Amino acid sequence: MTIGIDKIGFATSNYVLKLNDLAAARGTDPDKLSKGLLLKELSIAPLTEDIVTLGAAAADPILTAEDKEKIDMVIVATESGIDQSKAAAVFVHGLLGIQPFARSFEIKEACYGATAALDYAKLHIEKHPDSKVLVLASDIAKYGINTPGEPTQGAGAISMLISSNPRILAFNDDNVAQTRDVMDFWRPNYSTTPYVNGLYSTQQYLDSLKTTWAEYQKRHKLALKDFAAYCFHLPYPKLALKGLNKIMDKSLPQEQQDQLRKNFEASILYSQKVGNIYTGSLFLGLLSLLENSDNLKAGDRIALFGYGSGAVSEIFSANLVEGYEKHLSQTRLEELDQRQALSIPNYERIFFEEAELDAEGNASFSGYEEQSFALAEIAEHQRKYIKVEKSS
Ligand code: HMG
Repeated sequence: MTIGIDKIGFATSNYVLKLNDLAAARGTDPDKLSKGLLLKELSIAPLTEDIVTLGAAAADPILTAEDKEKIDMVIVATESGIDQSKAAAVFVHGLLGIQPFARSFEIKEACYGATAALDYAKLHIEKHPDSKVLVLASDIAKYGINTPGEPTQGAGAISMLISSNPRILAFNDDNVAQTRDVMDFWRPNYSTTPYVNGLYSTQQYLDSLKTTWAEYQKRHKLALKDFAAYCFHLPYPKLALKGLNKIMDKSLPQEQQDQLRKNFEASILYSQKVGNIYTGSLFLGLLSLLENSDNLKAGDRIALFGYGSGAVSEIFSANLVEGYEKHLSQTRLEELDQRQALSIPNYERIFFEEAELDAEGNASFSGYEEQSFALAEIAEHQRKYIKVEKSS
């Protein structure tokens, strides 16, 4: 029996900030963002969009009524949770109409969370091959106005339906993880934006990659020659490119080195337009690879490197299943181009916007007609979500 990704979906917010505009406003050379970080645009989420609405929007289009009957576990991985107690997965379970006898919970370890969620989903399917697990990686990355991290913000969610005999990717049983207790990026409960030791975080990312990859190769007797593509966590694509350069085996035939580099280019296309979506970033890279590579084929082995600050990293691999391309989208880039561009004042207004609760803890919101799901109101401190009805 194989276990892996049967379906994959993605959602982001309807607003986009063009990084040329940001560069002009901050007095930064635009090349620093387009060449130095390899970024072009980033998604900005308004108050009515959060990890619940983005997660539901990523999952809704990929799920059938039969899937909703078979899903018995919903995991939301996130580091931008909306409640210290109630899991976002419980809200999403309700919004999507998943059958009641399911386990729903949230999981956290910075950008690594979704990788851990996949491991747990795999173990669950091993025990219960007829069930399905919905894994959502949903985050809004906010660093702060005029900070070094500002151009690397983003918002979005990836949904993955994990099952036996999957139709897209079959996991190999080869995960190697590493934990190191470091303070490279963290967000205390009292802060809406993270504290970042930027340069140190990039060193931790690259060193975690080097050492976990060395251990992976030793344990599994595999090398870069055995892989058609390598996906990386993408805080911003330039760091992942440095990662690829670090692990590149110069003794490989030029043709294979070129293939790995071409597939890397395919894997960063969506992130370049969405920004960092934290725990979903690795899987946004995977989706971008699968939907844009022109050289992948069934049976190809793909490596995935997950990294979450703090820090936990993991390398694992999956093989492409025959016919995988039939379960993907060909219109994703066009859809991203339909987002509404924000002026700098509007971006900054959205950035600082907060719910203004009255004395009883009530607030209602508007302007979410273009969203799939929305935070419509807060009533006595309870967040109320709706599926937005579209007039045809
Ligand atoms: P910065 O101020 O942009 O740093 O901050 P920089 O001055 O080093 O410039 C960046 C690059 O632009 C450099 O390229 C410059 O040379 C180049 P590099 O030397 O690295 O190849 N550059 C230019 N290129 C062309 N034309 C120019 C020009 N000027 C400069 N005119 C920093 C970079 C990473 C510190 C910042 O973006 C940041 O703080 N980001 C947030 C933290 C982060 O993303 N860390 C990544 C590793 S940690 C991680 O991945 C986990 C995370 O996702 C969170 C989680 O796990 O939850 C973040």
